[in-house]
Amino acid sequence: MNVIEALNARHSTRAFLADPVEKEKLIAVLEAAARAPSWANSQPWEAFVAAGETLRRIKKAYLDKYAAKEAPAPETPIPAAWPQASKDRRKLLDEGLARTCGEAAKQFGALNRNMFNAPAVVFVCMDKTLSPWSLYDIGAYAQSLMLAALEQGLGAIPAITLALYPDVLRREMNIPDNLKMTIGIALGYIDKANGINGFVSERAPFEETTHFFG
Ligand SMILES: Cc1cc2nc3c(=O)[nH]c(=O)nc-3n(C[C@H](O)[C@H](O)[C@H](O)COP(=O)(O)O)c2cc1C
Repeated sequence: MNVIEALNARHSTRAFLADPVEKEKLIAVLEAAARAPSWANSQPWEAFVAAGETLRRIKKAYLDKYAAKEAPAPETPIPAAWPQASKDRRKLLDEGLARTCGEAAKQFGALNRNMFNAPAVVFVCMDKTLSPWSLYDIGAYAQSLMLAALEQGLGAIPAITLALYPDVLRREMNIPDNLKMTIGIALGYIDKANGINGFVSERAPFEETTHFFG
């Protein structure tokens, strides 16, 4: 698979098989991701990988918090409002899911709450004193990680729902206080029997987001 093919093939996996991911594969993916560009080669990413018993405890603690209706506390605030163009594209996501996946689309919330049944989640942190510019680097790292996962035959999804309760993540993985939690990326083998994974999101018309001059 060449790079363009990989970019076109990647899409979010929202239901994983329970099969664990081999440690060598996780290492290969994380090493490749660290080739991402960053401002002044600052490499702001610090990855905490949860699997096995640790991830089971994290999932249970999240489910308990959902049941108790505890307010989420992500360390990068959830946007209070979106511009109209983003709202319209978000609607495309909701409508596209319902149209393509039918009944399976209804599992969206439950799968999010169950961390997509993923056998592994990479939680990406960065130093709290870094500026928002470093989130740009984290984004490049995340996309590199997901493309490397594809190469290893793995599905992936970046999701804020994975990082809603950082206190749990800090406790379970001894995340130092100087680090801020940015995003979680779930990884694993794709549950192809689950219709929600058949959904491929649309993109805005090219001309709407790209402007050539000269
Ligand atoms: C920062 C970020 C946060 C996201 N959070 C969630 C999430 O909490 N739940 C979810 O189901 N998808 C989440 N996604 C996945 C997006 O919905 C998805 O990337 C988008 O709809 C485009 O679809 P694709 O990844 O399949 O191409 C997130 C993506 C990003 C980049």
